Amino acid sequence: MISRKFRKIVFGGDYNPEQFPKKIWEEDMRLFQLAGIDIATLNVFSWSLNQQDEETYQFDWLDEVMDMLHANGVQVCMGTSTAAHPAWMAKKYPDVLTVTSDGKKRNYGRRHNSCPHSPTFRHFAGIMARKLAERYKNHPALLLWHVNNEIGNRCYCNNCEKAFRDWLKKRYGTLELLNEAWYTRFWGHSFFDWDEIVLPSALSEGLSGGNSDQTAFQGITLDYYRFNSDSWLDCYLIEYNAIKAEIPDAIVTTNFQGNGTYKPLDYFKWAPHLDIAALDIYTENHTPESYMALRYDLMRGLKDGAPFMLMEQSPSVINWKTVNPVKRPDVMRLRSYQAVARGAESIMFFQLRRSLGAYEKFHGAVIDHAGHEHTRVFKECAELGQELQQLGDRLLDSRLKSRIAILFDWDNWWAVELGGGPSAHIKYLDQIQKYYDAFYENHIQVDFIHVDTELSKYDLVLAPLLYMVKPGYAQKLEHFVANGGTFVTSFYSGIVNENDLVTPGGYPGELRKLLGIWVEEIDPLFPDQRNGMVMKQGFGKLQASYECGLVCEIVHLEGAETLAEFDRDFYRGSPCVTYHHFGKGEAWYAATDPSREFMQQWIKALCERKGISQLYEAPPGVEVTQREKDGDRFTFVMNHTEQIQKMNVGRSVQKELLSGLSISGDIELEPKSILILQA
Ligand code: GLA
Ligand code: ZN
Repeated sequence: MISRKFRKIVFGGDYNPEQFPKKIWEEDMRLFQLAGIDIATLNVFSWSLNQQDEETYQFDWLDEVMDMLHANGVQVCMGTSTAAHPAWMAKKYPDVLTVTSDGKKRNYGRRHNSCPHSPTFRHFAGIMARKLAERYKNHPALLLWHVNNEIGNRCYCNNCEKAFRDWLKKRYGTLELLNEAWYTRFWGHSFFDWDEIVLPSALSEGLSGGNSDQTAFQGITLDYYRFNSDSWLDCYLIEYNAIKAEIPDAIVTTNFQGNGTYKPLDYFKWAPHLDIAALDIYTENHTPESYMALRYDLMRGLKDGAPFMLMEQSPSVINWKTVNPVKRPDVMRLRSYQAVARGAESIMFFQLRRSLGAYEKFHGAVIDHAGHEHTRVFKECAELGQELQQLGDRLLDSRLKSRIAILFDWDNWWAVELGGGPSAHIKYLDQIQKYYDAFYENHIQVDFIHVDTELSKYDLVLAPLLYMVKPGYAQKLEHFVANGGTFVTSFYSGIVNENDLVTPGGYPGELRKLLGIWVEEIDPLFPDQRNGMVMKQGFGKLQASYECGLVCEIVHLEGAETLAEFDRDFYRGSPCVTYHHFGKGEAWYAATDPSREFMQQWIKALCERKGISQLYEAPPGVEVTQREKDGDRFTFVMNHTEQIQKMNVGRSVQKELLSGLSISGDIELEPKSILILQA
């Protein structure tokens, strides 16, 4: 039996030898060895090459590449090639082509161009996955499977419309229930026949304007989003099952796009069907480190803390912004370790060799157009490759621990931003990031959880902007707090149920009892407008006053107490941050969007109250995380700044894994450097 387990943090990336003459392949092998590359993702965009017409399949080139990689100690992440269908397929079976939201049938072109309900696409994709699995199941180079590529698009064709109706029949059973859920008496939209229902496109319920998600009927659009996410999951599963039928213990995954926060797909719903979660991450030089940190933590959260794969990043430039600067020296290395520090077990690039033609010819690659190893980028990759070889399997399957959880819910994200609310500036990810940053800046680890996660293992649970409260979730939170937990939520929460129907009787609806407040009015502020927050009592190291913005709510206390109140406008003196003793615990509410300063100090004080302390006291710009395994603790200390930073790592002597040095007490961190301390 071939061992398909990871032996170390795998290092490599997308490899497209089919774009180059064979004489280059040997040179690639030499360069891979030099760079310590031990994994290559193959066959991602080779559908047309492998199937030149309906009947003929040929994989000779792939056999040859597989053998060659194996002979050179490189394992394979096998793409199934279904992210771009062949031109002959589109010509012969136009159902494979998508229809855009404004009703245009697309021509053959680009990629991610298949309709998820095209019988043609589903049929041929399944066959392709099976053929590949049959052919390579015993190949010694095979490590894992990569279905499709950055799956997702929204299609508005007739096949999708029919499938949507079927999906709705399963969800609601009767049109009465559907009409109720969608509130169709508004604007006289009642449906009396399933076939009257059309997709919520730009031609039907879509509202033009700055925000493309704006829709006249949130209920139908929300269901379409759910349906589209499920549709692609079905397509993924066709391939997944075809592979598993041949290779029951195959490791199968797909690379999540949008840096892991891709709005159209509910990744929490997908996660149970991945053997390991994987994401692509593309950032710019100025992207804040906490942006990446959040996404890595979310990937880890998808499978309850299990390690994930960093499937693609650029070793240097990207190619789709107006200006695409190179990554500065040492940044690629440091950011790669940042992923490892948060649970990644692979460091992979798009791409290993730079294309010579078409759209991505100027996208970064390990091997540049120069074609040799004497480039800054190659050298940096090779150094990282050597280091990962030295680290061996030490970090594999180690876990990050946390007593704090942040809820992340795609349905809620969709619903909050569908339009018609107090302010189009209220953005779910912004709020999640803001609460996350308060922990990040305090060097305190958090987990991301979904609505079904058991809460009892956490001391502190946050659900910022919990606009949608799903059935049973308010009771779950009440139970958690009654038993001693601390819960935190913020403005515009508890407003609707799972169908985006308002919970009547006063905001925050189902959360009112737990939070001990009633929100009478929601007053959004313009982007440059501010209000003030005045503290009514001491808490941690909080100052006397702070700024706030975005939203100010007029709150009445129903058992809760006031930490801070508004400073201006007609609601001056009314509460803006409250807490409510509920059973053995506390439920906190921020009726506004406070300054970052307040957030950081407030969250720190909340953690101290629960006896949760930071991993190390570290200066701003230094990131600290800890992975643990078999009683060993691995602490990652990363200096993201351009300056030397000083900190203290405690009295006991720890081994630094990358240098082999022993370290304790006061230390100096070089700019853009990383330490991995083992205790
Ligand atoms: C995505 C895709 C790759 C490539 C890169 C370029 O992540 O998966 O095929 O296009 O972007 O950054
Ligand atoms: Zn379609």
